Amino acid sequence: MENIDEVSTDMRITNKTFDVGRNDPCPCGSGLKYKKCCLGKKKAGAEKLRKRFADARRYNIRLKQKADIEGIRKAGRLVVDTLQLVEADIRPGLKTDEINTRVHEFTIRHHAVPAPLNYRGFPKSVCVSVNEVICHGIPGERVLKDGDIVNVDVTTILNGYYADANRTFFVGSPGPDARKIVSVAGECLRKGMAMVKPGNTIGDIGWAIQKHAEGEGCSVVREFVGHGVGFDFHEPPQVPHFGRKGTGPVLIPGMVFTIEPMINLGKKDLYVLEDGWTAVTRDGSLSAQFEQTILVTEKGFESLTPFSL
Ligand code: MF3
Ligand code: CO
Ligand code: CO
Repeated sequence: MENIDEVSTDMRITNKTFDVGRNDPCPCGSGLKYKKCCLGKKKAGAEKLRKRFADARRYNIRLKQKADIEGIRKAGRLVVDTLQLVEADIRPGLKTDEINTRVHEFTIRHHAVPAPLNYRGFPKSVCVSVNEVICHGIPGERVLKDGDIVNVDVTTILNGYYADANRTFFVGSPGPDARKIVSVAGECLRKGMAMVKPGNTIGDIGWAIQKHAEGEGCSVVREFVGHGVGFDFHEPPQVPHFGRKGTGPVLIPGMVFTIEPMINLGKKDLYVLEDGWTAVTRDGSLSAQFEQTILVTEKGFESLTPFSL
């Protein structure tokens, strides 16, 4: 996820215009071809369309074309397969660095590149975050023990396209707190995804997530947000996991971004360890997260890193 403190220095995305072809799906979300829909329309439809494009432009959101989407989908399939491989390995006694080795080797063997390795100085190929670690855990000598929860966050570059997803696994038999936070975090992602359709906004996603998390007595991390993805690791827009309905960029087909709520069992506050990466809950409570890479379609959304929640 993207650290919001760093966003202003990371706006490397150029202000590209996006040209919709006559035969492309209309960005208004009707499902019709552009030429059969808003192209040349004088009134409401055309006005709405201009407004929607204006948001993509204003926020420097790079829309993805068909070939790009296929590329991200392929990268996404590899990410999901990687997570499945990891799942089979998870057991008490496993060292977090062994997860790193598995992910690294599997990725390379599939002619892909692990995006985290050397990203802004990150020293490993995957993030592994145990219990009170919210995100950006660095694989190392920590040994998983029965009752732990562990998040594994995989980002893979295949043929130049990025896909990003994570899951939180149980180690051995979970206690009630572990069950609770993992189920709330999974449901938060599901409810966030359900808000994705043309005409809704980025703010609607965060609103749905926050409502569910807080309704369950949990809290939403503010410092890290979802992000556009596909051409690069972190692109506009930012996708907060909290917020107000109807705020932020309006969604249009061709947008690709992650939703990756980090949900704490206790308070939302965090701090970052001396290593400059590991973010932990300030109160030491458990934190869980799920992430998928989501494409906005004419009808709603498609996950490019699908797994059941
Ligand atoms: N995969 C994380 C995300 O969801 C980002 C990890 S950055 C790293 O955006 F450097 F720690 F790998
Ligand atoms: Co992400
Ligand atoms: Co990620």
